[in-house]
Amino acid sequence: MELWSIKDIDVEKKRVLIRCDFNVPKDEFGNITDDRRIRAALPTIRYCLDRDCKIILASHFGRPKPGEWNEDRDSLKPVAKRLHSLLKQDIIMANNVVGDDTMELAKNLKEGEILLLENLRYNPGETANDSEFAARLASMADVYINDAFGASHRKHASIFALPEHFPVGKKAAGFLMQKEVNFFDKMVKHPVRPFVAVVGGSKVSGKLQALINLVEKVDKLVIGGGMAFTFLKALGYEVGNSLVEDDLIEDAIKIMDRAKEKGVKFYLPVDVVVAPKFAEDTTVKYLPIQEIPCDWMGLDVGPATNRLFREALNDAQTILWNGPMGVYEMDKFSKGSFMMSHYIAESHATTVVGGGDTADVVQRAGDVDEMTFISTGGGASLELLEGKLLPGVEAVLKSRA
Ligand code: 3PG
Repeated sequence: MELWSIKDIDVEKKRVLIRCDFNVPKDEFGNITDDRRIRAALPTIRYCLDRDCKIILASHFGRPKPGEWNEDRDSLKPVAKRLHSLLKQDIIMANNVVGDDTMELAKNLKEGEILLLENLRYNPGETANDSEFAARLASMADVYINDAFGASHRKHASIFALPEHFPVGKKAAGFLMQKEVNFFDKMVKHPVRPFVAVVGGSKVSGKLQALINLVEKVDKLVIGGGMAFTFLKALGYEVGNSLVEDDLIEDAIKIMDRAKEKGVKFYLPVDVVVAPKFAEDTTVKYLPIQEIPCDWMGLDVGPATNRLFREALNDAQTILWNGPMGVYEMDKFSKGSFMMSHYIAESHATTVVGGGDTADVVQRAGDVDEMTFISTGGGASLELLEGKLLPGVEAVLKSRA
């Protein structure tokens, strides 16, 4: 999967529109709590600064409904501030997305200046993949760069319709986008083996397609988190009040059968941390999966499972991790996820982490620097694992030109 790279095209002194994913988490006071996505866009922005480009940055933020304008909640102004402190240069913040005043700002940009458009989703044309909106955005720039990996699974105007307005040689992927796509593509197509996928998170439904695709590629599949209970129930265990998707039991059986057919080693928890309710002050017990009381629920994997999973990872050369092992947001149920993070971090394998929650676990566990690659995309990385061609990738694919 070869993408046009920003290095393939001439950006020198050009007016360059860079689609970024600045959709970062904020706390109740409006402070950005994790600026990884902003920092990850800096190499592309700096590359353009070094080439005296006139830079227009565009991103969505949150999910405002079409036509809804909530400044406190969804404005990109806090991102402009963070960019200012990271780049140590002024950022011109637009008041809107494609209003006349913003078009004027874009037109009057000088070399080395940066304009940040307001939240693309303030304009209903963005999520509608509207070509008129895309045309207006396109008229601001000579060159289009997509560096918004995290949003590249969305068929939205700035991702899909907009690059249609630029001929080959005037559009490309930024460095972050290339890195993300290359890591996932290489890992899934040509992994150094043994290749182990660790998949967790609450539900099978969100990851069913990824599991179906992964079982064809991996040597071992390790399942944790809430989704494990659907598999355990499919095997006939009593899982009490644990999260189970009964309508997916058939699919769970099919995945386990396929693993057996392919010789893929399939690991499920052997013990769990159970509680009568999901609360900080609740009583907890560590029990084998054979002993889950009928009115209790499993909220994390237990210590025997941690040891088992560690064994499973022992000889791995490539590890993909997507989804926490338990409800890690609550201390009592975070150990399985943190242990998994440490085991993966300690391994000598190539380690790739995908998904916002999983990246959050790795950060809280203090293992960020030990991982080979942490994706900035949640939904986007999952869709890549499902084997899909993302709209944003398609738009800058060399073979498509
Ligand atoms: C994300 O946070 O996964 C991306 O920014 C995409 O956001 P969305 O799910 O609101 O489209």
